Amino acid sequence: MSQTQFTPRVFSGIQPSGGLTLGNYLGAIKRFVDMQDAGGFETIYCMVDLHAITVWQEPEALRRNTRELAAGFIASGIDPAKSILINQSQVPEHAQLGWIFNCVARMGWMSRMTQFKDKAGKNAEKASLGLFGYPALMAADILVYHATHVPVGEDQKQHLELTRDIAAKFNHDYGVDFFPLTEPVIEGAATRVMSLRDGSKKMSKSDPSDASRINMTDDADAIAKKIRKAKTDPDALPSEAAGLEDRPEARNLVNIFAALSDLSVDDVLAEMGGQQFGSFKPMLAELAVEKLSPISAEMARLMDDPAEIDRILARGAAQAREITAPILKKTYEIVGMVGSD
Ligand code: TYM
Repeated sequence: MSQTQFTPRVFSGIQPSGGLTLGNYLGAIKRFVDMQDAGGFETIYCMVDLHAITVWQEPEALRRNTRELAAGFIASGIDPAKSILINQSQVPEHAQLGWIFNCVARMGWMSRMTQFKDKAGKNAEKASLGLFGYPALMAADILVYHATHVPVGEDQKQHLELTRDIAAKFNHDYGVDFFPLTEPVIEGAATRVMSLRDGSKKMSKSDPSDASRINMTDDADAIAKKIRKAKTDPDALPSEAAGLEDRPEARNLVNIFAALSDLSVDDVLAEMGGQQFGSFKPMLAELAVEKLSPISAEMARLMDDPAEIDRILARGAAQAREITAPILKKTYEIVGMVGSD
């Protein structure tokens, strides 16, 4: 079978399930902006509200969080004139293709997903069916655009492997070359930003300790205080990346510094090697405030006009459906649904 050429297209999504963290910014949003600005790709970015409700969300909070996330995207540099910005529920083809993929994915594949195990915890019987099927909808998010590249943080790697498995099984079962095998793009110094309190845990909005993370809405004082109190070790910074191997907390702060300043870890250490944390931390705090404050100020300004955000999302949904409707229609035809021609 001849290999289909797919248009270079980037898709990625974030759950509107609470505040944005520095992990989301460095691992995802900042890289979404880079891919948008690099050119050569169509870029589509999404607030995955249907994914968010796989665990309970207060309706009013979900509405606010969706708009706040949209504001975070735009304030960080996602330009609705260059990228399509949507919330998932407004492009119904995501959920429609998600159903088809529920019938392609296997129970065994799903039960191996570590995110499900982490989120469902010991009480898996009480988890929603949506939480279990979550990765099939995620595959649909991506493949309903025939997206070729998906920038994400390290924690999403397994889901992207499953997306390739679903595409391959669909193509094989129906004897077509219809869905692309999407490339995960997990790159840069901050693909896994760790908790400021524990270098073995991911920085996360669900960590009970607010001191463990930097929120995109934190003010300059809060950012400086959290970095000053961040867990470290007593040694000076090494002058090469290899010297950070058994020092997870030190490595995390250096990774954050590198990602915020668009330098490699080696470049940062070439300059900072030999410094104690007493002098490195204030520099990191200053850099973080310099980069994040304009974003949080712009987010607050955009949140003053939620109707404008809603208009941007409505335009995005209309643009998105021009791509998704024909792909879903063709999928239905392949599967054998009557009435799709
Ligand atoms: P979510 O909402 O948990 O996270 C959004 C993005 O932020 C990245 N991220 C991090 N990166 C580095 N360090 C961290 N500490 C950190 N925490 C979060 C995540 O890797 C992700 O890229 N399942 C997805 C949402 C989703 C999606 C998709 C993503 C739904 N459909 C389609 C890509 C394509 C999720 O829960 O991300």
